[in-house]
Order: sequence, then structure tokens, then C-alpha cells
Amino acid sequence: MASEARDRVFGKGVFIRGLIEFSNHCRNDCLYCGIRRSNRQAERYRMTPDEILATCSAGHELGFRTFVLQSGEDPFYGPGIVAEIVSGIKASFPDSAVTLSLGEHPPESYALWRAAGADRYLLRHETRNPGHYATLHPRNMNIDSRVRCLRTLKELGYQVGCGFMVGSPGQTPELLAEDLLFIRDLKPHMVGIGPFIPHKDTPLASAPPGDVDETLFLLGILRLMDPTLLIPATTALGTLDGTGREKGVMAGANVIMPILTPMGVRDKYLLYDNKICTGDASSVCRMCVQRRMESIGHEIDTARGDHPDLAFRASPGTPPAPAPSAV
Ligand code: SAM
Ligand code: FES
Repeated sequence: MASEARDRVFGKGVFIRGLIEFSNHCRNDCLYCGIRRSNRQAERYRMTPDEILATCSAGHELGFRTFVLQSGEDPFYGPGIVAEIVSGIKASFPDSAVTLSLGEHPPESYALWRAAGADRYLLRHETRNPGHYATLHPRNMNIDSRVRCLRTLKELGYQVGCGFMVGSPGQTPELLAEDLLFIRDLKPHMVGIGPFIPHKDTPLASAPPGDVDETLFLLGILRLMDPTLLIPATTALGTLDGTGREKGVMAGANVIMPILTPMGVRDKYLLYDNKICTGDASSVCRMCVQRRMESIGHEIDTARGDHPDLAFRASPGTPPAPAPSAV
């Protein structure tokens, strides 16, 4: 039913987003995350604005028309630097959308980046329940502040994505119901969910991973709750199950986010153990996801892929990108 609901709004097209993980430095210490501040084993890196732009350029050649800039909360990239990176990308690739996924920041920074041209923002709420949130995060973080950020981002006109990990330690069906009710209330444009996967150098190293079938079930619920949502089949789902991303699309997802992070550093952005695609060049990933989607009767859609409510306003007259001719 979820797959049919998705087809009625989006057809068989699956949007692609090029994910650029430009820094794995983080001031936060989320208990589940492999790049948390306290993980002394993580080999840290930062990409320069020029390297980020060059990565977008390579991605544009491959047909990407959305670039997702993701990092830990890294104070090195102050609000002005991020704004320059965003406006640089928008000036070079006016036909492309920029999505930011940089964590919690003051409203002024979000406003500055929006004015610089950022189109979308991903900020998973992780869990709506304050008690559960407190078991997964250090004391200085709280769900109220995360929700405030999401509401501010919406007010600023971003296409906003929230979401959570499936099977995070302590999660119960009741807590998942709270997450779904929160999503119904927030009305985001995107929802990212993927299974929790333990990382060996975190306090949650010995916790069991989330369940693939439960993740697929929840993807279906989300699609039926709001058929217009942009929902990725995540890398984490593909990590736990060799055909997890295909199953995610068959369960109702309509977005896939191949990694564009350059080879020299992509194996250092390790949020969880055994992450897939860390040894593959971007061009290989691009064609790999295309083959995978075609194997289940879907096709890659190289348009910007805005939310249906905004698609016309956000990209009037923008032609879809051509498919890459070769790898
Ligand atoms: N710093 C930004 C933020 O906090 O939103 C973006 C980067 S953060 C690493 C991106 C997402 O990775 C988090 O929202 C979390 O849901 C997910 N993540 C982190 N550790 C994970 C794990 N062990 N298993 C699965 N997903 C994880
Ligand atoms: Fe990266 Fe398949 S998506 S190798």
C-alpha cells in the first residue's frame, strides 16, 4: 500500500542527493555516534571550501542536482564560512539545491544560510521523548532545543527533515508512536529514518542493532501517513542488509543519498561499524544505485527533487540533469 501511495505522487522515480561529509569534528557527544567528541580513536578531517566546491562539481557531472552538506557540529566552520560555501555552490550550480545537515545552531545562523541560498535542512529529532532523549545524549543536549531548531527552520522557509534511528537503545513501540505523532504535528517535508547500528568506540558499542523489517514497516507507515514526504532509503539500511536500500524503496522510500565525499577521507566519517560505500568512488556509487533501482523496476530521477508543495516555486523552469554517460 505504501509503495502504491508513493507511486501515485512520485511515480517510479527515485531522487538522488549527493552526500558530502565535509568534517567529522564534533563538539557534541551523542552516545551512539562514532564521531562523538570523546572518541579518541576517530581520525579527524576537514575539507576546505574549495574542496567542497570541487566535490560538487564532480557530483554535478555525475547528474546530481542536490548537494547535502553534512558534518559534526564543527565550530571551525563559523556562520560566515558556511554562508560563503553555500553561496559559492549556488553561484556555480544555480540549477542545484543545497541541503544542510549541520546540527543545532542559533536562529541567526539558520537565517544567514537561508539567505545565502540554502534550500533544505536535515535535523533528525532522534526521539521525541525527553526521558529517552536524555539516555542517548549528554546532559547539555535536550529535545526541546532540537524541536525549537526544527520549528525555526520551517519558519525560515527551509524544506525541513526530521527523523530518528529505529532500534536505538531503550526505544519501545510507545516511544515510536510519540515520534510518529510528533511528525504528524510538525509536518516536515522530509523524514529520515534508519536502523541504529552500534559503533565499537562508543558507550553503546554492545547494544544490539535495529531491525531491518521494523525499519521497513515504519517507512511504510510514514509513507501512508503523508504520501508527499521525501523519504530516503538510508545507507544504514543498506549496511544492515545487502539489499536494504532496494527494500526501503519497495516499502515506500523515494530518495537515495549516494556518498560524494572524496576517497581520501570518506572512510573516516564512520558513524557506525561496517558502513558500506566507504571504499567506492562516487562514480561507482552513482551507477551502483542506478542499477539497484532498475533491478526493482524504479529509475533514478535527476531533477532537484523538491517537495511537491514547493517544486514549482523552488525551481521554475529548471531542466532535469542528464544522466551520466559513463563511469
Ligand atoms: N551533526 C549533525 C546532526 O547532529 O544532525 C549531522 C550529522 S549526524 C552524525 C547525522 C545522523 O546520523 C544523526 O542524526 C543520527 O540519527 C545518525 N547516526 C549517528 N550515529 C548513528 C548510529 N550509530 N547508527 C545509525 N545512525 C546514526
Ligand atoms: Fe556505493 Fe553501491 S551505493 S557502492
